[in-house]
Amino acid sequence: MRAAETIGAGIMSRINSAAHRRKVMDAEAAAALIAPGSTIGLSGFTGSGYPKAVPLALGGRIEREHEQGRPFRVKVWTGASTGPELDGALAKADGIEFRLPYNSDPVAREKINRGEMEYFDMHLSQVAPAAWQGILGPLDTAVVEISGIREDGSLIPSSSVGNNKTWLDRASQVILEVNRWQNPALEGMHDIYYGTALPPDRRPIPLVRAGDRIGESGFRCDPDRIVAIVETDAPDRNAPFAPADSTDLAIAGHLLEFLSHEVARGRLPPSLLPLQSGVGNTANAVLSGLGEGPFHGMTAFTEVIQDGMLHLLESGRLLSASATAFSLSPEAAHDLNARMAEFHDRIVLRPQEISNHPELIRRLGCIAMNGMIEADIFGSVNSTHVMGSRIQNGIGGSGDFARNAYISVFMSASTAKGGRISTIVPHASHVDHIPQDVQVIVTEQGLADLRGLSPKQRATLVIENCAHPDYRPALADYYARARRESFGQQSPMLLQEALSWHDRFVRTGTMKPE
Ligand code: COA
Repeated sequence: MRAAETIGAGIMSRINSAAHRRKVMDAEAAAALIAPGSTIGLSGFTGSGYPKAVPLALGGRIEREHEQGRPFRVKVWTGASTGPELDGALAKADGIEFRLPYNSDPVAREKINRGEMEYFDMHLSQVAPAAWQGILGPLDTAVVEISGIREDGSLIPSSSVGNNKTWLDRASQVILEVNRWQNPALEGMHDIYYGTALPPDRRPIPLVRAGDRIGESGFRCDPDRIVAIVETDAPDRNAPFAPADSTDLAIAGHLLEFLSHEVARGRLPPSLLPLQSGVGNTANAVLSGLGEGPFHGMTAFTEVIQDGMLHLLESGRLLSASATAFSLSPEAAHDLNARMAEFHDRIVLRPQEISNHPELIRRLGCIAMNGMIEADIFGSVNSTHVMGSRIQNGIGGSGDFARNAYISVFMSASTAKGGRISTIVPHASHVDHIPQDVQVIVTEQGLADLRGLSPKQRATLVIENCAHPDYRPALADYYARARRESFGQQSPMLLQEALSWHDRFVRTGTMKPE
């Protein structure tokens, strides 16, 4: 892992306030200000805008403390997943006692699944309100990457906004990383809304179109609480997307046909409704597929802007995109960084409590399209746990969007692990999204429009349209027996057999019917 390059004060500095410049120090000195056992609120959302020097220095300090036999762990709050210099470095040093929310770092994932790290996987829209309610405990230190400091002391956000406003407001002390790598054209792309409050003082959020700006272009931050400023020049680091394959293209094709049909029936406008697209390879590929479809004048109200959404913006089919972060492949991140000014007026980056706000998602009528681990025949979706117990990433914003969307779509290949697992199962091994929040399921085999259908009608459709032919007979056989033998016939189910469907994979290494 390459250490983030820390640059000296004054060298092409982005710090335009003399009072702030006096607080510049190196990453090690800043990391020394963090106490063992404390809670840190860090910036970062899917590999964008996370601090890259202080967490790395903190990881080194924790390792040295451990070598001396002194325990040193911290509680980590972020926006969502981050990069290897943050989650990777701290998890590797065995320095994280508790973490929230969404994580996709492989080292942290292993620690969580071995039971060595507590992980609270919560809806992304609810993190900031929970912090304000005080139920998460006090926040000792905020470590936030920004792209500059203005003369008036306001902070220019970086390539993600996440929960930074809340961390900067709530933390007892603030450490800033000013990253010179981030394009100065980011200035003005953010919309930081300061009107949220707790009940009974909550007011409607005055956002009526996806691209509206309702807030300020920077963060406010009390200078007296800033204890350190570290200057860096280090790139964001996202994982590359797998190129779209025939499975992804088939999923995109089914979805395009469905959306065209909805337009033809007058149930959606020709420019659709604001798009939300989740994380992951399939969701990204589907966005690229939308670029081939008949839709123009689209908008997006989403959580992350991935490569596929950037291509839609470039093609002119997508007029504007509202999100909380970029989530780009390394190539796309470098490309965008070089051409940020071109997108300046068409992209808005907001705090995640706004980008994922249930009230706004419901009012705007988003079309939510998210990936899944598995769906059961009644339409319950598992987004998070393999075999019911092993976390893959987390629920992220999928719950915020699925429950409140105009149309909620979940998609995946019909099999995983080279065909050894069916992603359509009798009973989901873990449920993140109940059938009421799942309206459409798509695999490369086809699409099941579950709106307005009873559980029995849903089961037949999901097996026929979405299951892989290798598993369809086994599912159909199971369901036919459930129709005869189940205790009740509202949602027919053979309890033990439904669960042993998953167990069979563990015992034999394959779920393909023998
Ligand atoms: N059983 C076992 N493993 C499974 C599986 C199943 N039914 N389905 C997927 N997986 C594994 C894949 O094999 C792969 O593992 P690998 O990394 O070891 O190869 C991994 O899960 C990711 O699957 P992939 O097929 O690459 O899908 P993806 O990149 O589209 O991601 C999710 C799918 C569900 C993991 C991802 O969409 C996610 O994290 N969703 C939850 C959060 C979310 O929806 N956020 C967006 C809201 S704004």
